[in-house]
Amino acid sequence: MITNEELFNLAKEISKNSYSPYSNFPVGAACLFKNGNVYKGVNVENTSYGLTLCAERNALSTAVTNGEIEGLYAIAIYAKKQKMCAPCGACLQWIAEFRGDNDDVNIILEGEDGNIKVYTLSDFLPKSFKITSK
Ligand code: THU
Repeated sequence: MITNEELFNLAKEISKNSYSPYSNFPVGAACLFKNGNVYKGVNVENTSYGLTLCAERNALSTAVTNGEIEGLYAIAIYAKKQKMCAPCGACLQWIAEFRGDNDDVNIILEGEDGNIKVYTLSDFLPKSFKITSK
């Protein structure tokens, strides 16, 4: 299985493909599923600013496009201009969607000291929205 550091480095590498001419805030994300598959994404902005797509949701969309719909184990996020760049609220809810039977999802960030820090989805979104009955 890929290490946290390797997953983070994939996020860092893919961030070079970020399309962020408006914010000038490149972000890369790499998500790991329990079967070992990894999918990457970058933030993609638009002149109509509100249409921007975050790196995390692009990575998860790529996973779904490739048939991966549950068992999200970890997601690493790299922001070129900022350490400790946590996922936004919308991305946290997307991360929650794909955790499958996994109790939680590891969220791997670059700490202020430059070392990799491992958090969990429940650190950021302890009581996520979920429909439990229909
Ligand atoms: N961004 C992400 O890619 N992920 C997040 O979780 C928060 C923000 C992007 C969106 C925009 O292109 C830039 O960062 C500045 O907000």
